[in-house]
Order: sequence, then structure tokens, then C-alpha cells
Amino acid sequence: MRSPSFTAFVLASVLAARVGAVTLNQWTQMTRTTYDYVIIGAGNAGLVVANRLTEDPRVSVLVIEAGISDLGLVEAQAPFLGPTLSPGGKLDWNYTITPQVGMDGKSFPYPRGYALGGCTTINYCFHQYGSNADWTRFANVTQDPSWAWDNMKQYKTRHEDLVPPLDGHDTSNQVIASLHSTSGLTKISLPGYNQSIDPRVIALTTQSPEWPFNQDMSGGDRSLLGMGWLQSSAGGGIRSSSSTSYLNPVNTRPNLTVVINTTVLKLLQTGTSGGKPTFLGVQISSSPGTSNVPGGRIGTVTARKEVILSAGTVGTPQILQLSGIGDKNLLQPLGIPTIINNPNVGANLIDHTFLPNIFSVNGNDTLDNMLRSNVSVQNTINQFVQTKTGVFANNVVNNFGFSRIPANSSIYQTVADPASGPDSPHWEIIPSDYWFRPGGTRPATGSYVTFVSVLLTPTSRGTIKIKSKNPFDAPLIDPRYLTTAFDIFAMRETVKSIKRLVATPAWADYVTGPFGDSFVAAVDDASIDAYVRDVTTTIFHPVGTAAMAPASSNAGVVNPDLTLKGANGLRIVDASVFPYNPSAHTQGPLYLLAEKASDLIKAAN
Ligand SMILES: Cc1cc2nc3c(=O)[nH]c(=O)nc-3n(C[C@H](O)[C@H](O)[C@H](O)COP(=O)(O)OP(=O)(O)OC[C@H]3O[C@@H](n4cnc5c(N)ncnc54)[C@H](O)[C@@H]3O)c2cc1C
Ligand SMILES: *[C@@H]1O[C@H](CO)[C@@H](O)[C@H](O)[C@H]1NC(C)=O
Ligand SMILES: *[C@@H]1O[C@H](CO)[C@@H](O)[C@H](O)[C@H]1NC(C)=O
Ligand SMILES: *[C@@H]1O[C@H](CO)[C@@H](O)[C@H](O)[C@H]1NC(C)=O
Ligand SMILES: *[C@@H]1O[C@H](CO)[C@@H](O)[C@H](O)[C@H]1NC(C)=O
Ligand SMILES: *[C@@H]1O[C@H](CO)[C@@H](O)[C@H](O)[C@H]1NC(C)=O
Ligand SMILES: *[C@@H]1O[C@H](CO)[C@@H](O)[C@H](O)[C@H]1NC(C)=O
Ligand SMILES: *[C@@H]1O[C@H](CO)[C@@H](O)[C@H](O)[C@H]1NC(C)=O
Ligand SMILES: *[C@@H]1O[C@H](CO)[C@@H](O)[C@H](O)[C@H]1NC(C)=O
Repeated sequence: MRSPSFTAFVLASVLAARVGAVTLNQWTQMTRTTYDYVIIGAGNAGLVVANRLTEDPRVSVLVIEAGISDLGLVEAQAPFLGPTLSPGGKLDWNYTITPQVGMDGKSFPYPRGYALGGCTTINYCFHQYGSNADWTRFANVTQDPSWAWDNMKQYKTRHEDLVPPLDGHDTSNQVIASLHSTSGLTKISLPGYNQSIDPRVIALTTQSPEWPFNQDMSGGDRSLLGMGWLQSSAGGGIRSSSSTSYLNPVNTRPNLTVVINTTVLKLLQTGTSGGKPTFLGVQISSSPGTSNVPGGRIGTVTARKEVILSAGTVGTPQILQLSGIGDKNLLQPLGIPTIINNPNVGANLIDHTFLPNIFSVNGNDTLDNMLRSNVSVQNTINQFVQTKTGVFANNVVNNFGFSRIPANSSIYQTVADPASGPDSPHWEIIPSDYWFRPGGTRPATGSYVTFVSVLLTPTSRGTIKIKSKNPFDAPLIDPRYLTTAFDIFAMRETVKSIKRLVATPAWADYVTGPFGDSFVAAVDDASIDAYVRDVTTTIFHPVGTAAMAPASSNAGVVNPDLTLKGANGLRIVDASVFPYNPSAHTQGPLYLLAEKASDLIKAAN
């Protein structure tokens, strides 16, 4: 949805950042070096754990964040402006993936949040919990029944606060209130500003058996299949991130110290117990560093009880490898002594793909004209700043849907169904009221609808590998998108399904044709595959690089209680521990996981 000039314009229009009152901007301002717990990464999961552990005023916690403060940044508050924050803004790590063999050698940016809140400060605020079977599978592969949905759903009560939509409309047929909590910390809401395609999306649900209406899209006790109304991590027109919901309300707790602009260089072994190394030390320096010049003076902090690694699916395997925890065949040539030889560290990278299928449409009712007019954008920002209303107070879309690759598809003759269960979706559709291609440049003219398709059950597996012993060298990120028969088959089927969708009465008089050379040329299997490999990108849901596995097996990186295999003192709490991707957007499942992890940590100490 963004073009370079639009992004520059938005960034130039925001208010100056307020400095957080009790967040330290430099690690040298810290008054001590020993804490009960040291949490690495003030992201989605890290701030949940920080909040819950400091509920006990006797417990001291240090949270170390490489990035910057999110406070006062209008573009991080306005849900619609999420896609303007990356790739390449000041809240982004600015990673680029390696050339993709499944995508004609292309590479592209790989956004990760560089701020308090981590990815929840820059994400698109879609919120759900995954399917019931996703959690059954986590319980199954870890041989730990406590990861099943029937146990996990209790954490909704602590996490979720369902609030009315911005425009106050009646949502009784858009959400099932009894499935939701109003007592948790993170505000969740239904759309609060209508978009012109909403009636067509809802009409489709009565015209196409592929897209039945689903009254609640949160998952868990409810099937995700069908088309329904988006639930967003936002309330009152403002993004609800882990920073705004889990940190801000408790940032004055005397035993909670949060330091930003501080990069963890590596973990330090502090001893050995029961024949296993103990990692209670953490080496830090100021951000930012460069490939040649680390960030100045190096400091050390120590945890009395545990170090909690919450640096995310990219940062966590990077820190482990820098610390000598990983594949010795990777570490040895880089000159890093191997303390724990585990080739699963940084392996098993799984991500959801994002294919923006863009069509030209009749009329001028889409959001394209507004988004390409500086005057309109400025007016809409002013409206947001002054009243927290308007297009930018709403999320980027109002509806989304989930579907399966049909059971009679030829692919199942050779490939087992990779879904977590027979009612779990394989793919997602996101109807968008404009030209929606994050990181791309909007055409100067025309009105568009975009039906994004997202592969939720990829069978491709990639890797994260450090390329040197310098912590400021970005790791090599290789998701290996579209490298299996199932993945390309499934993406091809999503394109065919979307072609059927635009032929329904709800859309046929509106959509005039596909937009973009390779999409226009995509008329048979071979040309659709070429189009998929040309245009696919990421929806930013990497998981799996420090996966949970049974304590008794050689698989995985952490035990089902999230402690590092073969070590003492270290637990991993972030999206890297999911052994499979949930068949949904990842923040909701991760909030529940982090709430459970907090209980595990309290119980163990
Ligand atoms: C652009 C974008 C859009 C997305 N949209 C959605 C969406 O709409 N809905 C949804 O459910 N999910 C979405 N996601 C995914 C979701 O936000 C992530 O899966 C989830 O928030 C990841 O949480 P985490 O705790 O694993 O990692 P993060 O939130 O990334 O936290 C890791 C933190 O560790 C810090 N860190 C890393 N390395 C170091 C180091 N060496 N030293 C110190 N600190 C370090 C990072 O700066 C970061 O703050 C999106 C993600 C992105 C990037
Ligand atoms: C709109 O704003 C951008 C960024 O400030 C600028 O580069 C561009 O020239 C402006 N366009 C018009 C038509 O004023
Ligand atoms: C935590 O804060 C309390 C004051 O509320 C203080 O008495 C105590 O010493 C602190 N504990 C630690 C471990 O810092
Ligand atoms: C990413 O790039 C932007 C400039 O586009 C910069 O402001 C930001 O600091 C960079 N992020 C990091 C982690 O260096
Ligand atoms: C659980 O795992 C076993 C193998 O360990 C497998 O046979 C079974 O189908 C799995 N069940 C589910 C529900 O995933
Ligand atoms: C927006 O759409 C909803 C659902 O279709 C409807 O209830 C509401 O009245 C609409 N609001 C406006 C301002 O048109
Ligand atoms: C981070 O700290 C370094 C070292 O003191 C300083 O040069 C830099 O400006 C700081 N960055 C931010 C965003 O505060
Ligand atoms: C759309 O708007 C443009 C000007 O903004 C106008 O030139 C064009 O005729 C309009 N098209 C239709 C189909 O209304
Ligand atoms: C699968 O079944 C559907 C509906 O019965 C049918 O339209 C389609 O042609 C079938 N596909 C295959 C590959 O057999």
C-alpha cells in the first residue's frame, strides 16, 4: 500500500518522540549488574514475561532491548499506517533474505521490529489464536498435553480485552462475545471504519460455497474456515502492542528495569551443574554497531535465577550461535568454540507467504486516490492526531477468510496433508480496498482491489545462520520459500480460487481484470507458477528456529517447558519455539504462549 513518497511524507508528518520516563536510554545508566531475571528482547513475548514476573514486587527484572522507544510515534499508533513502518524505517532491523532458489533467485527485505514491543509495534494488528488442532499438534509433538487448546485458552482471560469498535456499531453478528475476554491487557476490536468493498465481501459469503460466512475469526474453540470480520489488536483507534499493553501500565514498578539502545552480544557460561553448562551471564554494548565497529564499551549483566531469551525467530538463533550453542560445523569455521552442539538451532525456519493478487476495478471508490494525494493523507493524519478517528484509525482491511486445498486435489496422491487437522485451513485470503503491495510503488493512476493469498501450511523449511562472530553482522536468513511440491501447488490453487471469486456476482461487475504483467500472463499451471514465483513475498510470520521438542528426543532446541536443551539457567520465550506455524497470524498464539511461559518460570523458581 505504500509508495516511497507516501512513506517519506508520513514519516515527515509525525510528532517528535516523547522519551519514556522510566526506560533507560543507555545501559551505562544502570545502577546494578545483577537481577533475578534478565530478559533479552523487549518484544512481543519478552514484555509479557517482564510484566508477569514483576507482579511480585520482590522479584527484580532487567529487560534489554536493542531498538528504540515506540512512545509518541503517530505512525506506530495509527493501525492503518502499520505497513508504512517497514521495510526500511527506523523501527525495522532492515534484514534482507538470501536469494531464493524457489523464486528465480530473488531476495527481498525481511522486516523485524526494532523497538519496545518488537514486531507488535510494527505489525498489521491482525489478531487470532490459531486452530484448536494447531495446539493439539503442539501438545502432540512435545508430548506435553499442557500445550493443547483446552489448557491454553485460559490465558485469553489475562491477555484479551475485547472493546467496542471505533464507530460504536452493533457487532453482534460480527463476533461471538462469549468466545472473548474483556479482562485482559491487550485491546482487541472489530473494524471501526467502513471500506467500500465490505458489502461485496459479505455478499460473496452467500454466493460462493468456498467462502461461507464465519461469525468469529479468532479460532481456538471456533473453526477458522470461512470469511468474516477482522479482529485487530487495537482499541479506540490506537494500536495495542506489547509495549502499550504489557509495559506501559507497569513501567513504574521499582523492580522492573528496561534498557533500550542496548544490544546483547552473547550469552556467557557462568558455571556447570549436573554436567551441563549454566548460562546466567549476558554480554552487552550500545546499539548501533557496524560490521567493523562493535558498539563501544562492553558490559556484563548476571541473572540470579534465569536468563530469558526473547529476541525473536531471527535474533534468538543468532544469539545462541554467537554464544557457542548451535551446529559445530557452522561455528567452528567462524572461530566460535562450541559449548552445546545442536544443529537444530537456526534450522526448521517456517514462514507464511504473501501473494498480493491485484485487480483493476470500476469506479473511484477505493482508497487508492486518497492514499496517493498528499493533501488527503495529511488531512487524514490530522484527523487521526486530533480525534483518533478516520481511515487511519482503522486497520488496513476489514475482512479476511480461511480455506482448505480441496480433499480431492491431486497433490494428496503424493504428499500427506500438512494441515494440523482436517478443520485447519491451508490458506488465507485478505480482500483489500486498494493496491496493497507492501514495499512496492503504487501506480500513479487507477483503482484496485487486492486479494492477498497466504500459505498457512508451508512444507518448505529454511535456516538462520550467523555469517561471522560479529554480533552486528546480520545473520543469513534463508526461508527457502516455494521449494516443495505442496507449496507451489497450494499457491497455484489459491490463485485459481481467487479467479473463481472475482467471477461471482458480488465481484463480476466491479473487477475489470488482473493487474501486473505476470498476473495478466497467468492463464495455465505453468504461467501461474511463474507468477507465484515472481510476486510472492512474506507476511512476516517466521517461527521454528529454536523449536520445542520432547525432553527425551534429540529433536528441537528447547524442552516443552521452554528451557534450553542441555543447559541450565536459560529459557527461550518467543516465536522461535513454535515447532510448526499456527494456521493463523502469529501474535495471538504467542501472547498465550508467553503468558503460559510466565507461569512456568514462576513455578520453577
Ligand atoms: C511487518 C510485520 C507485520 C506483522 N503483522 C502481523 C499481524 O498483523 N498479526 C500477527 O498476528 N502477527 C503479525 N506479525 C508477526 C508477529 O508480530 C510476530 O510473529 C511476533 O510479534 C514476534 O514476536 P517475538 O516475541 O517472537 O519477537 P519480536 O517481537 O520481534 O521481539 C524480539 C525483540 O528482541 C529484540 N532483539 C533482537 N535481537 C536482540 C539483541 N541482540 N539484543 C537486544 N535485543 C534484541 C528485537 O529488537 C525485538 O524487540 C507481523 C510481523 C511483522 C514484522
Ligand atoms: C508528496 O509528498 C512527497 C513527500 O513529501 C513529495 O516527495 C512529493 O513531491 C509530494 N507530491 C506532491 C504532488 O506534492
Ligand atoms: C524490590 O523493590 C522493593 C520495594 O518495592 C525493595 O524493597 C526490594 O529491595 C526490591 N528487590 C530487589 C530484588 O531489588
Ligand atoms: C534501518 O534503516 C533506517 C533507514 O531507512 C534507519 O533509520 C534504521 O536505523 C535502520 N535500522 C537499524 C537497526 O539499523
Ligand atoms: C500425534 O503424533 C503421533 C505420532 O507421534 C501421530 O501418529 C498422531 O497422528 C498425532 N496426532 C495428532 C492429532 O496430531
Ligand atoms: C458500517 O458497516 C456496518 C456493517 O455492515 C454497519 O452496521 C454500519 O452501520 C456501517 N457504518 C456506516 C457509518 O455506514
Ligand atoms: C545509542 O547509544 C549510542 C552510544 O551512546 C549513541 O551514539 C546513539 O545515539 C544512541 N541511539 C539512540 C537511538 O539513542
Ligand atoms: C476517477 O477520478 C478521476 C479523477 O480523480 C477522473 O478523471 C475519472 O474520470 C474518474 N473515473 C471514474 C470511472 O469515475
Ligand atoms: C474436486 O471436487 C470438486 C467438487 O466436487 C470438483 O469441482 C473438482 O473438479 C474436483 N477436482 C478434482 C481434481 O477432481
